[in-house]
Amino acid sequence: MGGRDATMVLLDENGIRCDGRKIDEPRRIMIKAGGLKNADGSAYIEFGDNKILVGVFGPRDVHPKHMSNTDTGILRVRYHMEPFSVGERKNPAPSRREIEISKVIKEALEPAVMLEKFPRTAVDVFIEILQADGGTRCAALTAASVALADAGIPMRDMVAAIAAGKVADTVILDVNNEEDQAGQADMPIGYMPSAEKITLLQLDGVLTPEEYKKCVEVGVEGCKLVYDLQKKALNDKYFGNKGD
Ligand code: CDP
Repeated sequence: MGGRDATMVLLDENGIRCDGRKIDEPRRIMIKAGGLKNADGSAYIEFGDNKILVGVFGPRDVHPKHMSNTDTGILRVRYHMEPFSVGERKNPAPSRREIEISKVIKEALEPAVMLEKFPRTAVDVFIEILQADGGTRCAALTAASVALADAGIPMRDMVAAIAAGKVADTVILDVNNEEDQAGQADMPIGYMPSAEKITLLQLDGVLTPEEYKKCVEVGVEGCKLVYDLQKKALNDKYFGNKGD
């Protein structure tokens, strides 16, 4: 992975980060519900320099049939990075990382989706990373929740996601690519605010127990900010005049 600069100052003496943000300041986030006419639901998100499109299809028949479950619906998630989404061209073949992130996002969405309401069927979530800049799994999970809601899939809540982390021994909100690569810790969090449930929590790096607790707190507060933008995107489409 490129972009690492050993001389980069991740946090200056005024508490300002390498991209000009304060420690608890998220990147600019823009979410749009809808946009793809051939999908049952869709969403587009810009999360800093991440640009991600999500299409949702279903509930629909499962092929091959033996993969279906008579008691419940199933959720299938494909996280896919365009070769041009990163500085150094990504091999178009599915990578281990993409397979892992697909699984992580699926498991983070499952508690939110009322799969029991549509047995024998599948809901497919296709995530296309058009541009990546650190934190794509959180941005993708956030957009996937909006796309599922846009598809009218019954849900307990939407999952909002953002990463907390640590740079220069300081806990920060919303880890960018440079901070991810040169920082001390990255903790992606997915959270359902109404249900007050964490559905995604990963940690790359080392934290003290106090820092761990602080990261979870900061991350959950960040998810609440993201959640407001998810609701706004749906409101704009269904009750505003910016929808399709
Ligand atoms: O994107 P996320 O932070 O969820 O996952 P990661 O595996 O921690 O990757 C961090 C970042 O590394 C990505 O967001 C991309 O910007 C970058 N990356 C890359 O440059 N080339 C790859 N083949 C994969 C990731």
